[in-house]
Amino acid sequence: MDIIRTKADLRNRVNSWRSAGETVALTPTMGAIHEGHLSLVRLGLERADRCVGTIFVNPRQFGPNEDFATYPRDEDGDFAKFETAGCSAVYAPGPEEIYAPGYKTEVIVHDISEVMEGASRPGFFTGVATVVSKLLIQAMPDIAIFGEKDYQQLAVIKTMARDLDLPMEILGAPTVREADGLALSSRNAYLSTDERQIAPALHAAIVAAAAAVQSGIAPAVAAEQARKAVLAAGFQQVDYIDIRDQDSFETATDPGENLRIFAAAKLGSCRLIDNIGI
Ligand code: PAF
Repeated sequence: MDIIRTKADLRNRVNSWRSAGETVALTPTMGAIHEGHLSLVRLGLERADRCVGTIFVNPRQFGPNEDFATYPRDEDGDFAKFETAGCSAVYAPGPEEIYAPGYKTEVIVHDISEVMEGASRPGFFTGVATVVSKLLIQAMPDIAIFGEKDYQQLAVIKTMARDLDLPMEILGAPTVREADGLALSSRNAYLSTDERQIAPALHAAIVAAAAAVQSGIAPAVAAEQARKAVLAAGFQQVDYIDIRDQDSFETATDPGENLRIFAAAKLGSCRLIDNIGI
């Protein structure tokens, strides 16, 4: 597996595969690779001849009081996992390859990025849309794959790629979960042993709320029940539990088609997010 540090080398590598008639998938990550990321690689290799994993802890998507400095980093371990999963290359650029001195440009996706994660974490989606547009332009893959665990992020990236005419397919991959329902996340490493026992309550609460909506309970009532269940389980704060249309992200007023339940809540120093289709 090639370890690539510069956008020039990345372009050359991708161009050489393309000249040989091969297709290329890209799986952007911030490292701390787990089974969820590796499922993206496997999906990439089902859909393309080559897969390139990327590792870049993007400073522009962290708020001033967030965990940029302490975000888990294990480059050698991540390289080994990407290689075992079948990546042909990993792109792990230094900050100057992404944000050169004098860098001034941002990509803002309006509307769908202003609710939920966007409201709780100002600037987050601008940071994500900016770095992902750059990674896509640097690599020019045929397909790029992102996890549905970050469903709103996936929607923002799809919208950004469509609006900027980026010529690649953006594909979502199903959330990978622990046996007790907890969605895999690099930030789960922050959970203490006791918090790890409590953490699956978030998924359990949204599963129960989804079932309630399916049985005809009003979305607002089901979401409120889920909020209470999550706090009763031991979470300190619920940022949101919302039932919305999964394309427009408008709040659902009645049980109906195309709905999804989205949740974010804090447990100790860890902020967990999850979502499921209803
Ligand atoms: O989901 C992530 O890991 C990040 O937000 C992404 C898409 C790699 C952009 O930095």
